[in-house]
Amino acid sequence: MLSMTVAARECDTVAIKRDLAEVFGVRFFAAGSSAVAEARPTNLYHYRAFIGTHEVAVEAGDCVYYLGDDARSAWLRRGPTRVASHHLATVIRGYMPEDRSTTIQQGTTLPYVNGCSTKQLFPAERPGDPTLQLLHMPPYTTEQVHHIHSTVRVVYVLSGRGISVVGKGDHTVTHELCHGTVCVLEPMCPHHFETRAEPLLCIPLHIFSSTGRQELDHPMLVGTHLIDP
Ligand SMILES: [Fe+2]
Repeated sequence: MLSMTVAARECDTVAIKRDLAEVFGVRFFAAGSSAVAEARPTNLYHYRAFIGTHEVAVEAGDCVYYLGDDARSAWLRRGPTRVASHHLATVIRGYMPEDRSTTIQQGTTLPYVNGCSTKQLFPAERPGDPTLQLLHMPPYTTEQVHHIHSTVRVVYVLSGRGISVVGKGDHTVTHELCHGTVCVLEPMCPHHFETRAEPLLCIPLHIFSSTGRQELDHPMLVGTHLIDP
């Protein structure tokens, strides 16, 4: 009876954690898993992420970002096309830049925050367009402070180890990040990544990106003036 109670409590804990992940908007896929993560009806932009091994058909007018067989190269192909993907392929609807590819052999080139750095594997063609980044986090750091993004991030962990923290205050979900983990973060999902003794190298795809001041220059924010309580 006691063990059942304990089991029920553990089960509740798992359920609560699952609920938090759902409420805050994060999905994790372990290395080796096979799944398709699709845009939610509430998303502004449509995408479909194919995790694991898939034959992906890309229609005219769409494009696909995917990793090469050894995950040490990245490809961008416009539809119509078909690609064989073994790690992660993400189709973005209604965006069709030129085909391109890059190896992922060198390190990052741009300073980021808190000792982190990045490289634009595929920069945004125009401000606000999708972009594929390479994010390096050294040991014992955090990727920014807790933050949100206005568009979806589909993140593939290339090497190393880290922790994803999602939620607010005492209500957070932590999840280990290691080689092959895929993490899908919904818009406005409060999160950050952390590292311990190992660095973390991951590849975030921005399902459309940000344009700087434009996101801060709107009536709700500009028209709000903080006062003492
Ligand atoms: Fe982030």
